[in-house]
Amino acid sequence: MNSLAKKRILLCVSGSVAAYRAPELARRLGEQGAEVRAILTEGATKLISPLLMQAVTGASARTALWDEAAEAAMGHIELARWADCIVIAPATANTIARLARGEACDLVSTVCLAADAPLLVAPAMNRNMWSHPATQENCAILRRRGVSLVGPDHGGQACGDVGEGRMSDVSEIAAAAAEAADRSLRLAGQRVLITAGPTREPIDPVRYLSNHSSGAMGFALAAAAARAGAAVDLVAGPTAAVTPPKVDRFDVVTAEDMLAEVMRRVPDCSIFIACAAVADYAPARYSQSKQKRSDSAVRLDLRPSPDILASVAKRPNPPFLVGFAAETEDVQGRARSKLDSKGVDMVVGNQVGGGRGFGDVETSAWVVWKGGGKRIGQCAKPELARQLVDLIAQRMGLGKVALLRTGSQAR
Ligand code: C5P
Repeated sequence: MNSLAKKRILLCVSGSVAAYRAPELARRLGEQGAEVRAILTEGATKLISPLLMQAVTGASARTALWDEAAEAAMGHIELARWADCIVIAPATANTIARLARGEACDLVSTVCLAADAPLLVAPAMNRNMWSHPATQENCAILRRRGVSLVGPDHGGQACGDVGEGRMSDVSEIAAAAAEAADRSLRLAGQRVLITAGPTREPIDPVRYLSNHSSGAMGFALAAAAARAGAAVDLVAGPTAAVTPPKVDRFDVVTAEDMLAEVMRRVPDCSIFIACAAVADYAPARYSQSKQKRSDSAVRLDLRPSPDILASVAKRPNPPFLVGFAAETEDVQGRARSKLDSKGVDMVVGNQVGGGRGFGDVETSAWVVWKGGGKRIGQCAKPELARQLVDLIAQRMGLGKVALLRTGSQAR
C-alpha cells in the first residue's frame, strides 16, 4: 500500500511565485491516496485562486482566519487536529518568520501553532532572502523544534537571479510528505517511559553533586514519541526544559527518586528509554547543616547510585529497552559493550566532552543493537529523536502500524 494512502495532508500555500506549482503538488498527493485540504495565505490568493485548489483537492480551500461560515464547519482547531501532516509549499520568508516567532496572525500560522502533526516546510524565495541571516536563523529555530525542511534547490528564479531559493520538485516534496505522514503514528498503542535530565545528589542543604545534562535529548525524544502516537511518561530530573505537548511529566531530584518513579510506571510501558544522565555516585551521608568552609582539605565519601536501566532490565518481561552511552572516546565500541553489559535492546552512543553533547546543540550518534548498527550524522536533537523513534519502531516491527489507521481512529 502507498505510504500516503488515507493520510490527511493539510497543504498550506503562501505567496511565492512557486505557488503556481501548489495545485500540481495537491494532485500528486491525491494521486498517491492522500486526502488533501488547502489553505492559502492572503499573498497566495494574489497568485493562484482558492477555486483552483478546491478543484484539485475536492474540498473548499480556506483563506481567512475570521471566516464565520468556514469556522462553523471545520474550524481552525479542527483543521489542526484533522491533519496527519502539514505541508507548507511554497513557504515564503515571511511565513517561515511567523512560524519561528510562534505568531497566530493568519490562518496558516494559527493552524500550525495549534497542530501537533509533523510539519514539512518547502521554502521558496529569492536567493538573497534565503541566505539572509534572519531567514537562516528562523529555519534553524524550526529545525530545532523538529520541523522538517525540504529544499530549497539551486536554479533560475522568477526575478531573473540564479541561486538557491527555488522550491524543490513537487515529487520530492510529495516523497518527504509521505515520509513525515508515515511517521505520524509509528508508536500508536505503545506506552513509552523516558528518563531525562540530570539527577541532583544533595551534600547538605545548599550543595549537591550533578552534571551538565540539560534534558534536551530526553525531552526531544518525549516529543517525538508523542508525535508518533505513543502515550508518553517523562520522568525528569531538575531541568528548565519545557514539557512537550501530550506528555505526562513527573519531576524528581535524586537517582533514588528517579528509580522509585520509574519502577512505579514501568509495569505499564512497552518501551523504556533511559536518557537521563543519572549521577553515578551520591554522598554517602547527608549533612543536615551547611558544611563550613575551612582551610584544610575535606573528604567526601560517595556511594554508588542505583542503576535504573539495569534494574528495569532485570524485571521479568522487560519492555523494549534503550540506553544511552555518553562517551569521550570510541563511541561505537563502548556503545556495543554497553549493549551486552546492560542487557538492553538498543544503545545510543553520543560523543561528549570538549563542549560537545550537552544542551541545545547539534549532535551525532552511533545506534547499536544485536547484529546491527547505524551512524546518525550531525543533526539537531529533535531530528536525532525522530530518527531514533523510527529505529525503535523498526526494531520492534511496528513500522506498518501507521498504515492500518482508518479515518474513524482520528486523534
Ligand atoms: O553505565 P552508564 O552510566 O554509562 O550507562 C548509561 C545508561 O544507563 C544511560 O541510558 C543512563 O540513563 C542509564 N543509567 C541509569 N542509572 C544509572 C546510571 C545510568 O539508568 N545510575
